[in-house]
Amino acid sequence: PDSPVTVTVTGAAGQIGYALLFRIASGQLLGPDVPVRLRLLEITPALGAAEGTAMELDDCAFPLLRGIDITDDPNVAFAGANVALLVGARPRTKGMERGDLLEANGGIFKPQGKAINDNAADDIKVLVVGNPANTNALIARAAAPDVPAERFTAMTRLDHNRALSQLAKKTGAAVGDIKKLTIWGNHSATQYPDVFHAEIAGKNAAEVVNDEKWLADEFIPTVAKRGAAIIEARGASSAASAANAAVDHVHSWVNGTPQGDWVSMGIPSDGSYGVPEGLISSYPVTCAGGSYEIVQGLTVNEFSRARIDASVQELAEEREAVRALGLV
Ligand code: NAI
Repeated sequence: PDSPVTVTVTGAAGQIGYALLFRIASGQLLGPDVPVRLRLLEITPALGAAEGTAMELDDCAFPLLRGIDITDDPNVAFAGANVALLVGARPRTKGMERGDLLEANGGIFKPQGKAINDNAADDIKVLVVGNPANTNALIARAAAPDVPAERFTAMTRLDHNRALSQLAKKTGAAVGDIKKLTIWGNHSATQYPDVFHAEIAGKNAAEVVNDEKWLADEFIPTVAKRGAAIIEARGASSAASAANAAVDHVHSWVNGTPQGDWVSMGIPSDGSYGVPEGLISSYPVTCAGGSYEIVQGLTVNEFSRARIDASVQELAEEREAVRALGLV
């Protein structure tokens, strides 16, 4: 295709933005033959920093990069957008209650959802990275009634990738030999990384591990609390790995998942696996032809059921909280 794909990135001057934009421009998001046009959305005080990043993008002379626009106006940023990566968000600061956090993010994701509704291309695909990602995606989706609901997704691919690496370390397997791992629920400490359907070189992963205590006491908390461990070690939150996961998420969605494997995406629930309809919850999905489908028919054992339910309960509470604020 000769006409470029328009990719909008919000929070472009932040640390994930810095790790993400160069990979998009080099062709890793959409594919090595797909030209891209970047639109960077930032708040007014950060426009200068976004300009600096754009200068560096120019200096890479990426053959696929067909232009960069920088703006603080969501209507301009999402005009004709085919892919939107919503990275910029309001972080939780000391003493901030959950309600305050949700309200502050409502002030970002509601207008952005409306701007997507009014300006984006018909094939728009949205990935929300900014936390609380699932509920921010819910808010944006609610503000975009003309866009099919399934185009609003939230990122749990970083959790998926973290789980793959932890499982590879434990079993001595290569990451590439592990298939069909699933993250269920919320991108938060309640998320549930599920290995019961995963395969390691064709064998059932839970049987290879054969250690339920390790799963419950080491694996699950390590994956779920990895973000905090990175902050503790690095003095800053995950950025390159988050950008990498965003690239993976969109690449899978656009270009498909391989036969015999699946990925994890936060998507609007259709009620599958007992998750209330409309909640943006992480599921195992396969992708083909630019759309995704929930993997159906998996048996959910008692160990998994309790953990999925707990994370979904948290999502339901977040939805109630943003409902009370009139955001959805
Ligand atoms: P950062 O603070 O370095 O950058 C955020 C950027 O967003 C800033 O440049 C800020 O000016 C911008 N911004 C704020 N409000 C905006 C608005 N209304 N429109 C456009 N831009 C806006 O943060 P970082 O490290 O890049 O992280 C971004 C978000 O991603 C955070 O919410 C973080 O919690 C989340 N995150 C999510 C992960 C996931 O797995 N889902 C993993 C890691 C981070």
